[in-house]
Amino acid sequence: MDAERAHNFVIQNAHNFPFMGYLFSNQKLDKNFQVDIAGLKWSSPVGLAAGLDKNAEAINFFTTLGFGAVEVGTVTPYSQVGNERPRMFRYIEEESLRNRMGFNNDGSSEILENLKNSNSNGKVVGVNLGKNKWTTLKNAHKDYQMLYDKFSPFADYLVINVSSPNTPGLRQLQEISFLEDIFDSLFEGRKKVNKPLFLKISPDMAIEDISGVVELCKNKNLAGIIGTNTSVDIQRGPGGMSGKLIFNKSKSIRELFLKEINGTNLEFIGVGGFSNYEQLVEFWKLGGKAIQIYTSFIFQGPSILSSINKSIKEDLVKNNISDLESLIKEYQR
Ligand code: FNR
Repeated sequence: MDAERAHNFVIQNAHNFPFMGYLFSNQKLDKNFQVDIAGLKWSSPVGLAAGLDKNAEAINFFTTLGFGAVEVGTVTPYSQVGNERPRMFRYIEEESLRNRMGFNNDGSSEILENLKNSNSNGKVVGVNLGKNKWTTLKNAHKDYQMLYDKFSPFADYLVINVSSPNTPGLRQLQEISFLEDIFDSLFEGRKKVNKPLFLKISPDMAIEDISGVVELCKNKNLAGIIGTNTSVDIQRGPGGMSGKLIFNKSKSIRELFLKEINGTNLEFIGVGGFSNYEQLVEFWKLGGKAIQIYTSFIFQGPSILSSINKSIKEDLVKNNISDLESLIKEYQR
């Protein structure tokens, strides 16, 4: 089946039959799997990355599956159709995807209703924010401000997405002056409703820009950085690559960010190519704590969650440690 049709079919069923999440989650999450991310209790260190449940239609399903947290969106102020199809491509042998979706979504009003009416089963739910295609870069901060004010009372955390490659010019917003405009325009809203705010970055950003971005995030009191989005540097056609093919590229950027945030209060949520427990342990050793997945979930299904959770359990027993936070600290010693 065409990748996007299969995707829509699954989301529709997940929306209609949320209890199916229980059938697939053959592993109950132990209380001691919790990790603290900017004061939020993720019930496991593996969250769902943005873009899978763009319209917040299946929160009930995904939060019963065994994800530690679920991020919905990207939401733009007004609905938009995105790029023409086909726009999602599979590379099965390489467990990778290419997409050039272009922020297709139902718009902030409808998605807010979905969020308000969903059952998150006590799990952490984040909302990923983006600008409409037609909003100029100069006015982009207004889109983010509107979205922050609208969603912050109902989301556990918010993400400024300036790293998707499929909205022309969007990644230019990673420049310090644009980021400054965005964070400054959120200032009043954040005083009223102060929710953890993250910045999602691209794996293709210039290495020399990393320290400036970290410095700004620190100065503007962000909760942390999420890295990375899809990559256009690995060329298979138009759009961004995700999955195993971007793991190394994404990892090298993560490593630099983790070094840079060391000693600050910033969190770094890892995303980009993760597909097994060993990679999670490697991320812990570099100083990280929680990750998100998208593509490996598409190829491996819910069993990736039970497999990682099983490995955590075994590791805790092997090391005679009672909770995951302590195990992570042990790996970081
Ligand atoms: C994405 N991703 C994404 N990210 C984001 O911030 N907003 C979005 O709307 C989307 N949409 C989206 C659609 C599709 C089809 C894919 C495959 C990916 C990026 C995603 O959240 C993640 O950052 C990357 O895919 C890298 O992680 P994985 O897939 O390698 O685990």
